This record gives sequence, C-alpha cells and structure tokens, in this order.
Amino acid sequence: MTVGVLERPGVGFAGASAPRAGDPLASALVREPVLSIDGLSVCTGDVDLVIDVSLQVVPGETLCLVGESGCGKSLTCLAAMGLLAEPVRRRSGSVRLQGQELTGLGEKQLRQVRGREMAMIFQDPTASLNPVQRVGHQVAEALVVHGQLSRRAAMRRAVELLDRVGIADPAARAAAYPHQLSGGMCQRVMIAMALACRPRLIIADEATTALDVTTQSQILKLMKTLQQETGTAMIFVTHDLSVVAEIADRVAVMYSGRIVETGPVDAIFENPGHPYTRGLMDCRLHALSATAGRLATITGTVPRPAARPGGCAFRPRCPKAAERCETLPLPQGFAPRQTVACHFPGRAR
Ligand SMILES: Nc1ncnc2c1ncn2[C@@H]1O[C@H](COP(=O)(O)OP(=O)(O)OP(=O)(O)O)[C@@H](O)[C@H]1O
Ligand code: SF4
Ligand SMILES: [Mg+2]
Repeated sequence: MTVGVLERPGVGFAGASAPRAGDPLASALVREPVLSIDGLSVCTGDVDLVIDVSLQVVPGETLCLVGESGCGKSLTCLAAMGLLAEPVRRRSGSVRLQGQELTGLGEKQLRQVRGREMAMIFQDPTASLNPVQRVGHQVAEALVVHGQLSRRAAMRRAVELLDRVGIADPAARAAAYPHQLSGGMCQRVMIAMALACRPRLIIADEATTALDVTTQSQILKLMKTLQQETGTAMIFVTHDLSVVAEIADRVAVMYSGRIVETGPVDAIFENPGHPYTRGLMDCRLHALSATAGRLATITGTVPRPAARPGGCAFRPRCPKAAERCETLPLPQGFAPRQTVACHFPGRAR
C-alpha cells in the first residue's frame, strides 16, 4: 500500500477538482458557516495551550480535528462551547455561531445556546450522564429545558429518539439507569441527547474511541445518516485516521496548539502538505502495512506547552527542518482549499 490509498471508495475528490453539487464541500463555498472560530488562543497563566486557531464549519459538513495527544483539540472544542474551566481561559479570539458572537455571553445565555443550538458529545458517556436519573428522563430533560415540549410530550419524543439511535426496545430502555446499559448504548443515549433539540452544530470529542470496532462503525454510520437528514454541522475530534477516512469532509490537523494544515479529506490523505500530516499518514500505513519497516514513524513527542520551541514547534521532530524554520511559518495556500503552515510544504524541498 502506498501513501494516498484511501479506504474510502467512491469519494475520489482531488484537491484541484471542482466541488460537486450536493457535496458538503460545495456548500462550503456558498453557505454561511454555522461556526466560525477566528484567532482563538487559550492559555493557563502565561502559557499558551491553543494558539491563533481559526476554523469554520458549514451546514451538513463534518470537520475532523486530528493530532496527537496534547495538541489542543479538546481545549479548542471546549473554548468553542464556552466550557473552559479555570485556570484555563480564552486569551483572545472570536467564536461565532450562526453569526452570533458567543465570547461575550454570560453563563445563562450560553446555557440556552448549548443544547438548543450546539451540543457536545464526550468520550466517556458515563461521565456525562447522570448516574441516578433514568436515561429517558435525561433525554427528555433537554427538550423541556429548552422549552420545546411539555414533560409528557418530551418523554414520548425521548423514546422516539432512543429508537432512532438504534436502541432496541426503547420504551423499556428509557426507564434504565446508565449503569444498566453497555458503553455503546450509553454513547447512543448521548447522541440522542445531542440530537434532541436538532442543534445546528454537534461537537464530538473522541465520541467513539472507547467503543469496540463494530459498535464504533455502527455509531459513525448512524451519526452520518442523522447528520445528512438534519443538515447539522459536525466537528469530530479523533486521533484515529480510519475514522477520519470514514466520516470527514474536511480535516484540520493540530500540532502543539496550532492548526498546521487544513483541507478536503481526500487531499489530506493523498497529498499532505505538512511534514507532520505526512508523518501521521505514514504512521497509519505503518500500522496497516505488512512491510512496516519501509515507512518512517514520527520520532519524539509533542512538546509540553511550557517547553514549546520557538519558530516552528515541529522542528525537533521534522526531517526537513532547516535554519529558516526558527521563524514561525504562517498558514499559506498549498492546493485548492488546502492550507499548510510550513516553510517547505510538500514532498520535496
Ligand atoms: N486544566 C489544564 N491545566 C493545564 N494544562 C492543561 C489543562 N488542560 C489541558 N492542558 C494542556 O493543554 C494541552 C492541550 O490539551 P488538550 O486536552 O486540548 O489536548 P488534546 O489534543 O485534546 O489531547 P488528547 O488527544 O489526549 O485528548 C496539553 O498540553 C494539556 O496538558
Ligand atoms: S517549517 Fe520547517 S520544521 Fe516546521 S514543518 Fe516545515 S520544514 Fe519542518
Ligand atoms: Mg482531548
């Protein structure tokens, strides 16, 4: 297998080709973004954890946010949701949902936006579900809190939603407590909760990571189907590139707090511009390939934010590093709709 062979038959999008009608990528050119993050920086004390991140996602589009552990994926999502907790705080930048600036809103206003307009699904459903409340009530609660339905109607709708996310015998399961359900079922409940108010945006942070491969695949398909039905935009955080290949329309790659590459999923897999993205692709092929020795893995680890080197933070691990890399590379166009922050993008230097 060579770099660029996608396990994603029938997509075949080349970075330089025109987007197709009905394609979320096409809508990226014509539709207003659901979420627009501009120049977002997050810090603790004087240490920057997320730096100058800008991202957009349009209706019906899935943006996958990838990168090794500690790159700042979760903090970016939490900042977008207004869920950062002291001592971590937003240093600067703007977060707009459907054009509305969220960064100045108080907790009460934010709580109204969360759930109704945007919802987040976390990796560990048991941490997010209330252990002493029946799951049906928890789904119904979201509908009642956002004033959409009476309690009775909300309960009926909750059972419908549990059915919709593939929970067998939903009326009986609605009466169960989280500990009486499997991890996969709890995750389905979380998805039902996230979908309850038909939000414009869902942020899923490693939402399927803890699940076995079969359940994960079922849940990804389910999320994609529901998303296509509702036109919800999705940010999907994962370190699993097989998941990216299955679900993404666009990809944003993070390294040490910054976005280092963005582009359509096929372009990212077939023609990664940043040495870090290329390294991630090689690592994946290394794991998949029977002739693993031919492909390099990325040596070293992501620097701690307090020990991040100046200039390009990937420099100590980069096979192409040169003197020029001691200055920070800014994002630049690499291919159509593909942006790379590197002084020497592409395969050769
Ligand atoms: N509460 C906190 N206080 C101090 N540093 C933090 C805090 N939360 C996160 N960090 C640091 O910020 C950086 C980014 O963390 P974040 O959780 O966003 O990474 P991530 O990309 O989501 O990683 P993972 O893939 O492991 O979930 C890391 O270096 C992390 O140690
Ligand atoms: S700027 Fe230099 S060190 Fe950074 S990724 Fe590009 S080549 Fe490597
Ligand atoms: Mg995380």
